Amino acid sequence: MNRRPGLSTRLKLTLSYAGFLLLAGALLLAVVWLFLLRYVPDGALVAGPGSGVRGAPVQRVAPTRSDLQRAFAPRAGQALFFLLVFGLLGGWLLAGRMLAPLTRIADAARTAANGSLSHRIRMEGPNDEFRELADVFDTMLEQLQSHVTEQQRFAANASHELRTPLAISQTLLDVARSDPTRDHGELIERLHTVNTRAIDLTEALLLLSRGNNRSFTRETVDLSLIAEEATETLLHLAERRGITLDVTGEATHTAGSPALLLRVVSNLVQNAIVHNLPTGGTVTVHTESRHDASVLQVENTGHRLPAQLLPTLTEPFQRGTTRIRTNDHAGVGLGLAIVQSIVRAHDGTLDLTPRPTGGLVVTIRLPRHPR
Ligand SMILES: Nc1ncnc2c1ncn2[C@@H]1O[C@H](COP(=O)(O)OP(=O)(O)O)[C@@H](O)[C@H]1O
Ligand SMILES: [Mg+2]
Repeated sequence: MNRRPGLSTRLKLTLSYAGFLLLAGALLLAVVWLFLLRYVPDGALVAGPGSGVRGAPVQRVAPTRSDLQRAFAPRAGQALFFLLVFGLLGGWLLAGRMLAPLTRIADAARTAANGSLSHRIRMEGPNDEFRELADVFDTMLEQLQSHVTEQQRFAANASHELRTPLAISQTLLDVARSDPTRDHGELIERLHTVNTRAIDLTEALLLLSRGNNRSFTRETVDLSLIAEEATETLLHLAERRGITLDVTGEATHTAGSPALLLRVVSNLVQNAIVHNLPTGGTVTVHTESRHDASVLQVENTGHRLPAQLLPTLTEPFQRGTTRIRTNDHAGVGLGLAIVQSIVRAHDGTLDLTPRPTGGLVVTIRLPRHPR
């Protein structure tokens, strides 16, 4: 950044120290001067007869004002000069000491600006303004570092997941090229499946970034209608797996993007179907308008989930321990991450609670919106 060159803070502090010291000195001298003037009359006067020892008259000569001035002025000048030198020197040293922590913070900021986020100030000493600034700075660096690490991991995972379908396509094409007599119908069918997966994945990634960007228009949405719509499209999947799908509850309004909220409910219901018991499972979608929030709850039967697993499930590319891979709806672990990012963008919260008998209750709380 181009800035006008200016005085350093150390120099400014030094000058103001010295200035104040000089001013205070001058004021003190002025007071002394005024005080002296009160006791020294103007002009060359000889004092009257004083009372000497045994009544002998004594002539005492008082100094005149000009005598006083002659004696006082150079001393006063010297004193002021000394104060100036003392103020500049002392001020320079003091300002240096005071500003030392700032130099450390600036050095750390420069290191961070050059791309090294692992450096910390770790200021010692009692709590003061600089210590607070340093601590805040360290906290900020820590968060920045973990954010960057997370982003890098995300990019690596995304690239890896995107490469898989491309690599499969490549292999299929290689095989087809080396053996032109093979049945192309089957090849095209498999290429189509792989390509669909790549498109789904790319769309999921785009959706995730859209949720993170908060770049959508908000309108009044009835969550119960969204739940109806989502379950209707997933009904055939539930039927194929022998799962009973129920929707209960009342009209529940919130403000947001209907398309994104539909994606939230679809992801949750799809999870509830896919990660359910092999036979005889149930899924319940419930909407409810509470006094503080609009709530949507998806509950499903299923296997028992270890409690320590729950917090990780909303992280991108995190799948549960039992990796359910079926031809339809093979997930890559982005479903709950997308739900989380969209719910956050709507200023809502997402809660995962394991059911004691197995399965999961997912609760979404969104800000209430009057109809
Ligand atoms: N309703 C649910 N019941 C049980 N487990 C679930 C449920 N929803 C999600 N999970 C677990 O959380 C993991 C992450 O979910 P998600 O992000 O949607 O990824 P994916 O469904 O692609 O595996 C799943 O792999 C599964 O183990
Ligand atoms: Mg999923």
